[in-house]
Amino acid sequence: MRDGRGHFEDRYGEEFFAHLHSRWQESTEIFNASQTELSRLTTAAIAESLDLSGVKTFADIGGGRGFTLAELLEANPHLHGTLVDLPAAVAHPDPRLRPGGALAARSSVVAGDCLREIPVEADVYQIARLVVDVSGQRQSWVTRRDLDREHRTIAYRQLENAPMIEFMGGEWRALPLDENRTQLVITHDFAARPTDAVPSREEANRLLRAAVDRNSHADLDAVRKEAERRAQSVGAPA
Ligand SMILES: C[S@@+](CC[C@H](N)C(=O)[O-])C[C@H]1O[C@@H](n2cnc3c(N)ncnc32)[C@H](O)[C@@H]1O
Repeated sequence: MRDGRGHFEDRYGEEFFAHLHSRWQESTEIFNASQTELSRLTTAAIAESLDLSGVKTFADIGGGRGFTLAELLEANPHLHGTLVDLPAAVAHPDPRLRPGGALAARSSVVAGDCLREIPVEADVYQIARLVVDVSGQRQSWVTRRDLDREHRTIAYRQLENAPMIEFMGGEWRALPLDENRTQLVITHDFAARPTDAVPSREEANRLLRAAVDRNSHADLDAVRKEAERRAQSVGAPA
């Protein structure tokens, strides 16, 4: 039965990465090393499809130990990069990103939980293969986000799609209403792809539309709460 909840949480009572890092430390090491090996296979394709020539700062969110970030920094000598991942993943970063490493001067490594806060400001954010449960199915993908401060927009595009997704992209647009209020508009452009688990295109589209709708509301709500929290902390009207 699909109820939108994750199977892992039902069984173990907490989110996958929280459980992995706190209860299965040996498996954490194997998992992190396996992700670096996977990155070795896919980073060349990511580097090829990412034109970073006009970009000064780049953040890899959920970037594991930073293999992909280190390769992108080597391929783009003008670029500064930040690796953000949970503490257990960034405890042993790629040697090139460590103090004294070949890329240390152009990189920083930050432990953080991107579901609570993105603890870095950058021109481009890459969110690569976070593992998410979509209606009971494990999905993961690679997304690029471009921040345009002048026009108050963030464009996003999936570079490597989840199995259920044909293509996915869109834009966040902040429209100032008056001195104290901003309207945030998200638009998505996407199509679902049938899979073995969901062979009907119609059903795949229905599931994806429902997930996008649910996530958009959750995202907008999270931004609203954070904006109100910050407004309160500086004493501005919410
Ligand atoms: C499938 S791995 C991909 C690692 C890396 N992007 C790569 O391609 O090698 C998912 C990564 O997301 C990280 N992650 C999971 N939840 C996170 C969160 N809430 N905040 C930051 N990173 C998270 C995990 O620690 C893990 O390194």
